[in-house]
This record gives sequence, structure tokens and C-alpha cells, in this order.
Amino acid sequence: MKRTLLLPWLKKPHKRALPDIQSALSPVRFYPFMSDLADIIDSTLQAINAAENMAALDEIRVRQIGKKGQLTGLLRGLGKLPPEERPAAGAGINKARKTLEDAIATRRKILESSVLDEKLNADAIDVTLPGRNGEVGGLHPVTMVLQRMENFFKSVGYDVIEGPEIEDDYHNFEALNLPEHHPARAMHDTFYFNPNLLLRTHTSPVQVRTMESGTPPIRIICPGRCYRIDPPDPSHLPMFHQVEGLVIDHGVCFADLKGTVIQFLRVMFENQSLKVRFRPSYFPFTEPSAEVDMQCVKCLGEGCRICGQSGWLEVMGSGMVHPKVLEFSGIDPERYTGFAFGMGPDRLALLRYGVDDLRHFLDNDLNFLAQFR
Ligand code: PHE
Repeated sequence: MKRTLLLPWLKKPHKRALPDIQSALSPVRFYPFMSDLADIIDSTLQAINAAENMAALDEIRVRQIGKKGQLTGLLRGLGKLPPEERPAAGAGINKARKTLEDAIATRRKILESSVLDEKLNADAIDVTLPGRNGEVGGLHPVTMVLQRMENFFKSVGYDVIEGPEIEDDYHNFEALNLPEHHPARAMHDTFYFNPNLLLRTHTSPVQVRTMESGTPPIRIICPGRCYRIDPPDPSHLPMFHQVEGLVIDHGVCFADLKGTVIQFLRVMFENQSLKVRFRPSYFPFTEPSAEVDMQCVKCLGEGCRICGQSGWLEVMGSGMVHPKVLEFSGIDPERYTGFAFGMGPDRLALLRYGVDDLRHFLDNDLNFLAQFR
């Protein structure tokens, strides 16, 4: 088989090859013709249009029309031309320069917009993707129980009254028929600021203040924080909540107390046949007094760990307001009677939500609290 002998050194230079600037400027060669200039423009325009990015484009600009660029070099070399040829050659080179500058500017715009397009494409967001929700907070279980209690009593015509947590001895004890050295004060051991100022041990002082400033009929509940020196354990906290109720009017009797308390517990625990019993008890501010028990919410009276096998849960103290308490606050016990009750929303929350330890309510454990959302 005959083989062709290849002689690469004889190959003609490529038509579009850029003219060599050195030889273009060399004194032995004639200054480039306009056709050479046309070649330069032609090949540079191609390179400009093929430039893939700003860096490549800039490189072309520097190579051709930069300070040491090819065209700039040609301009500088004009002096070597015969004077009559200079104006035409200069004009040609300047025109070429302008053409290239315009082409570069155009290409730059195209590249810029494609860079933007690329960025927009890369950053594109899928608006149809499902969103990631932030965590939604919820109410504390004790707050929820407090709100349920308030809603019930508001719906049957009670006002919700709040009062100071720092109380004086008179409103917390004295006016409630608990004089100094009364043995019942031992159950209300609390935090004293001085012999006269203390953290209230119940919300009953709010009832005293209401009786002092108003006239019957009075129908109120007093929710709020109370304090006693109880070391924390599953059923005690040194800070706890109370909701106390007070009704004073003509002819208010024990049957009114029973009806109110029974209906409240049945609504609170959503069981219209919930059994409730009143057990004789003692409070210095009520006479007669009764402890209120309700059927165990867990075993419904069968007997379980929650109710200590008794089938009953103690849920509040109650009684007919003691005549001396009415007198203390300027209400005539011959004309008016009243009932009062007091209960702990913390304990009701334990029972309602099946929580076994009051201390969980104060732990600020989000995993625990999130369950009540
Ligand atoms: N104030 C009482 C306490 O904290 C509760 C109570 C209120 C009892 C009203 C009877 C009547 O112990």
C-alpha cells in the first residue's frame, strides 16, 4: 500500500491565523495592509463571540486593544509608514478598534445576562415543595385548666377578680377569722417579708378585699398564685395555684353551694354522672365547712393507685361563710349569707391529664409540655 509522505513544514499558514505582531512591526516588512487589518478584526470578532466567560473576553481585549495590544501596537507603529499613507491607515486602525470595542461590550452584556440566568437557575426554588413549619407553642396545662375553670364560672355569672400576691397579715389571716396564734395558721406557714407582709397562702384575701369594697350580691372567683413552705414532692409545691369562689346574697344556702360545686366538677371532667360527696371538715372562715370529694377519674370508684384504693379524690374545701368573716368586712350577717370554696388547678390538671407528679409542671421540659398542644 502506498503511503503518502506528509511534509508539515510545507503547510501553508492558516488563513485565519493572527498576523505576527513582531513581523508586522518589523522595519523590513511593509506596514500591514488593510486586508491584514480585516483579518485581525475577523479573527478577533470570532474569538470574542466564542468567549465563554468574562476572563476569556478580557484576555482578548488585553491582547488586541490593551496598552500592549496588537492594534495599539499598530497605531504606535504608524510613524513608520510613508506620511501620505498614515491618515488612511490610522483611520482604519481606529475604526477596527471601535468595532472590537463594540463587539466586546456586546459580548460582555450577553455573558453578564447568561451569568445571571445561570445563577437564577441554580438558585431556583421549588415553590410547590411542602413548607417546613416552625414549631407552634401551646398553653401550659395548668393555664388550660385555669381557663376552663374561668369559662365555666363566667358562663354562670361570676366575675373573675385578681389581687396582690404580697399580702398583709390582716387580709391573709386576721379578717378570715385566723387571729394570731390560731392553730390553723400552722397549715399556712409561708414566706414573710416582715412580721406584717407575706406571700399570700391562699386567694381568700382577694375575697376579703372584694367584700370590703363592694356590696352584695357578690359572685366572684379569684384565681392566682399562692405560697406555702412545703418542700416540693409529687403533690406539693411551694408555689401553687388556687381558684376560690365566693357568693354572697340574700338567702344563699348550702344547697346552692352543693349545686354549684357538683355542676362545676361535672363540666370540668366532662362526666354528667360524676359522683360528688361533701365530708364535714373545719376551716376557720366557714361554718359549716365541708371537704369535697369526687369519684376517682381513673377507676371511677373501683379503687386504684391514684385514689389510694378509696375510689374518691379530695378536690376542694368549701363551706358557708362564717358570720365573723362577713362582719370583719362590713357585711351584715343578719341580712346576708354566703358560700365559699377553694381548689387547686394544679391538682385538677394532674387529674385531668393523668400526670403523676406536680413537679413536671415546673420543669420546663419541652418534650413534656409539647404533649398538651
Ligand atoms: N382558703 C382555703 C385554703 O386555702 C380553701 C377554702 C376556701 C376552704 C373557701 C373553704 C372555703 O385552705
